Amino acid sequence: MLTATKEAVSFIREKIKEIPKTAIILGTGLGNIVEHLEVDCAVDYKTIPHFPVSTVEGHAGKLICGKLGKTRVLVMQGRFHFYEGYSMQEVTFPIRVMKFLGINTLIVSNAAGGMNPDFQVGDIMIIKDHINTMPNPLIGKHHREFGERFPDMSQTYSSNLIQKARENATELQIPVREGCYVGVTGPTLETPKEYEYLRIIGGDAVGMSTVPEVIVAHQMGIRVFAVSVITDLGVPGKIRKFTHKDVIEAAEKTAPKLTSLIIRLING
Ligand code: HPA
Repeated sequence: MLTATKEAVSFIREKIKEIPKTAIILGTGLGNIVEHLEVDCAVDYKTIPHFPVSTVEGHAGKLICGKLGKTRVLVMQGRFHFYEGYSMQEVTFPIRVMKFLGINTLIVSNAAGGMNPDFQVGDIMIIKDHINTMPNPLIGKHHREFGERFPDMSQTYSSNLIQKARENATELQIPVREGCYVGVTGPTLETPKEYEYLRIIGGDAVGMSTVPEVIVAHQMGIRVFAVSVITDLGVPGKIRKFTHKDVIEAAEKTAPKLTSLIIRLING
């Protein structure tokens, strides 16, 4: 794992001369941030040694380096999900690579089902905490270079960035919610009772990504900011049949608002 990480790092260093400090992982349907990016270079995942390749519709597979406003960023266009059959080591491989490349701040977005009864489709939720119901990505051999064996998780999401995002949202007049994200494996969506259960245990939103990457990033000392776009509701009385296409459509509608929020956050 350590050797594979180092090989991927050397390869990317050859392609990207100056590595930015901030990385962004684009979630489902939120690819429009790329339209605002002044691209310096792009590296296909499939050319990077040991990098997994994305298989889901709506997820491209590129590492893009460029300027968002006046700030240089490294963008992961396409991420890896556990439900695709990747191991947790594969899902989180790019995070370790990015840390070794010099990234110190990670911004993650995702699409999620809203369980808080106040939420509506299209809402943006700043993630303040999470509940992990997936296999933990840190299970297995411990490499000291990746961080502690038993990482503290009492302050996983940067309170500094959360506060900045709140202020930016007010200035931009973009309403935002805050809450707890529950990470599930998928690929099935929840039954009504599963939504009810996840709400009872403290979840405001549920989705199939983010938590593994955040755990690994936090273990490595990366500052994390994460945000969900609510694409459907798991609220009693409001549960409807929906498809992955509906998720993408709902996320795309909210994307411009989320994009301006993120651009402001990283340029603040
Ligand atoms: N459940 C799980 N994952 C999701 C959902 C959901 O309702 N919506 C978008 N991703």
